[in-house]
Amino acid sequence: MFLVTPDQSILSLVYKFGYEQLFVRHMFSFKDDRRALEQHGFLLSNFLLLRFPVSLLVNCTGQHNAIEVILKFGPHHHKKEISCITPSVLPPKLLTSLAIIPHKSTKPTSFSVSSVRIEEKPAANQDPKTPTTTTSTPTRTVSQPQPKPQPRTQSSYLPKKRAEPTIPTIILNACDDIINNFIDPPLKYHVDPRHVLSDNFAPVDELPPTECEVVQGSLPSCLDGAYIRNGPNPQYLPRGPYHLFDGDGMLHSIKISRGRATLCSRYVRTYKYTIENEAGSPILPNVFSGFNGLTASAARGALSAARLLAGQFNPVNGIGLANTSLAFFGNRLYALGESDLPYAIRLTPNGDIETIGRHDFDGKLAMSMTAHPKLDSDTGETFAFRYGPVPPFLTYFRLDANGKKQPNVPIFSMTRPSFLHDFAITKKYAVFADIQIGMNPMEMIFGGGSPVGADPAKVCRIGIIPRYATDESQMRWFEVPGFNIIHAINAWDEEDGNAVVMVAPNILSVEHTLDRTDLVHALVEKVRIDLRTGIVTRRPISARNLDFGVINPAYMAKKSRYVYAAVGDPMPKISGVVKLDVSKGDERRDCIVATRIYGPGCYGGEPFFVARDPENPETEEDDGYVVSYIHDENTGESKFLVMDAKSPRLDIVAAVKLPRRVPYGFHGLFVRQADLDKLL
Ligand SMILES: [Fe+2]
Repeated sequence: MFLVTPDQSILSLVYKFGYEQLFVRHMFSFKDDRRALEQHGFLLSNFLLLRFPVSLLVNCTGQHNAIEVILKFGPHHHKKEISCITPSVLPPKLLTSLAIIPHKSTKPTSFSVSSVRIEEKPAANQDPKTPTTTTSTPTRTVSQPQPKPQPRTQSSYLPKKRAEPTIPTIILNACDDIINNFIDPPLKYHVDPRHVLSDNFAPVDELPPTECEVVQGSLPSCLDGAYIRNGPNPQYLPRGPYHLFDGDGMLHSIKISRGRATLCSRYVRTYKYTIENEAGSPILPNVFSGFNGLTASAARGALSAARLLAGQFNPVNGIGLANTSLAFFGNRLYALGESDLPYAIRLTPNGDIETIGRHDFDGKLAMSMTAHPKLDSDTGETFAFRYGPVPPFLTYFRLDANGKKQPNVPIFSMTRPSFLHDFAITKKYAVFADIQIGMNPMEMIFGGGSPVGADPAKVCRIGIIPRYATDESQMRWFEVPGFNIIHAINAWDEEDGNAVVMVAPNILSVEHTLDRTDLVHALVEKVRIDLRTGIVTRRPISARNLDFGVINPAYMAKKSRYVYAAVGDPMPKISGVVKLDVSKGDERRDCIVATRIYGPGCYGGEPFFVARDPENPETEEDDGYVVSYIHDENTGESKFLVMDAKSPRLDIVAAVKLPRRVPYGFHGLFVRQADLDKLL
C-alpha cells in the first residue's frame, strides 16, 4: 500500500519496473496540466494520472520486490511532505493490490521505502535556477537520513527556464505524436522503450556531488582521481521507438581521494541536449531507432525537415549524443560519441562534472571522431579516425602529444561504408577491421529500415597502414572471412617486425548486433597477420561470451599478456569480469585465469584496469586493480567495486555503496588526480 500526503496537487504516479507486468485498474485523466507534464518529457501513455482525493488500485503480478514511485507536485504547491511506501517484498507471482490513499489514514510502520523521487515545479515567483529536489533511496528505511548533496557551485549548469512553446513547436510536436501513435508499426523488441529502458537501463536524473559510504574494505591509496563512465540516459522518456544507443550521454563520476569517494552524475551538455532542454521536448531525430518502417521513416524525415526549416535546430552544430566513452589526451578530457565531435569536459575540485564544449581541434576536425581513440602512453600521441556514409568512408588521423590534430589520411580503399566502431594500433601500424555490418542508405531511403545493417555476403577484411602514414599508398588489406569485431582490445608488432598480432572479440551471429544483442556471442580471438605471406592465423582464446575487454593502459600498442573482459549473460547485461592470460592461447587452452561473477541479479559493466604504481618501470603488468560499477536488481542498490587484479578470484578489496543507482552503460576511464590537475 502506498501512503501519500493529502496534497491535491499530486498529478502523477510513474511506475518504473517491468511495466508489461503492471496493470492499471483505474485510469484517471487530467485536463489542464498536460502541457506541464509534457514539458517534463515523460511518456504520457506510461503515466497513471490522477487527482486527489482518489484511490488508485494497481495490480502487480511481477517478480519485482521494489517499486520506484515518482510523485510530482503541481505548479502551485511545493510541499515536500510526501512519503511513498511499498511493501519491502512483494510476493512473487502473486496478484498484489496497491492503493494510493489519503494521508489521514493510519500510517503503517512496518514498511520500508523502496525508492522515492520527489520533484517540484518552480513557482512563478521562484528563482528558475532552483534545482530540482531529487532523492532516491533504494531499500532505505523511513527513519534513515538521506545523503546530503554538496552545494552546487556551477549555477551555469542548472537547467535554464524553458520558454513557452511557440505555435510551430506545438504543431510539430503534435505531428510527432501522430507519428508515434498512429503511423509507427508495432515496435520491435530492440526499439520498444518498455524493454530497452527496463530494470537498470531506466534513466536517472542528474546527481550533484554526493559523498558515498565505503561498505567493504578500503579504497587503495593509488586510486587517487576519478573513475568516470559514460552511457545513454535519455533526457526525455521516448514517446516512440527508442534504441539503446539513442540516449543522451550521461557521465557518472566517482571521485576518490584519501580513501573517500564522491559520486556525481551529469549529462554531457551537447548541442542536442541543450536545445531540447530549453525547448522542453525532443527535437533531433534518433539515428538508430528513427527508421521504423517506410511510412513512419518518411514522416519522421519530413518532420525533421520541417523542424530544420522552422529553425528549431541547426545540424552544423552537431547531432551527437556523446554517450559512448571518455578519453584523456593533450591535457583535455573528452566525452565521446562517434557521430559527432568530442565534447571537452572537466571535473571541479568537489567532484562536479562540467561540459566545456564541442571541440574541433582549432577547426581541423570536421564532422566526427571515433569514440575509441588510442593513446600511446610512451609517446603521448593519440591515434583516431572517423567514418561515414560518403567517400572517403574512412579517414585516419593522429594527434600529437599536445593534442594538436595532424592532417587527415583519407582511405579510399575502404570501398563501402562500414560500421567502424573501433580499431587498434601497434608501434608501427594502425589496424582497421572492415566488417559485415555496414551503412545502408538505400535501405534507409527506400525500405524505411535502419541505416546500419549486416551484409552476410561481404567478406571481412583487416586493413593495416603505417601509423605515421601521410597517405594510403602503403595500406594493405587482408581478407579474414567471418571476422566481425566491434571492439579491439590491443595489437602489437612481433619482434621481427614481420607480423602484427591483434586481440579482439569476434561477434558471432553479427546480424544481431544492433537488434538482438542477447543472441550475440563474442569470442575473444588472437589474430596473427603475417605481413610477408599475407596469411592470417586466428585462434579463440576463450569460449565464454566476452566483450568490453581492456588492458593495462601502459601496454597499449605493445605486447600485452593480460586482458580484463566483461561476461555477457546475455549482452548487454554483464554478470561478471574475467582475467585472461593471452600467452596461454598458444597452448590451445582457455585463457581465463581469474573470474568474478557478481551474483544472482547483479550486473556490472565494462571493467577498467588501474595500475597500482604506474611510475615504477619494474612493476608487473597485472599489479593493480580492476574497477567497475555494479547494480543489484534485487535491492536496487549500486556499488563501485575495486578488485585485486592479481588475485586468482579478483578479490574485492573495496566496495563503495552509491547513494543512487547508476544505470548500465558503455565505456569508462580512470583519470588520475595528477592528470585532472593538468586539465585545460
Ligand atoms: Fe565501444
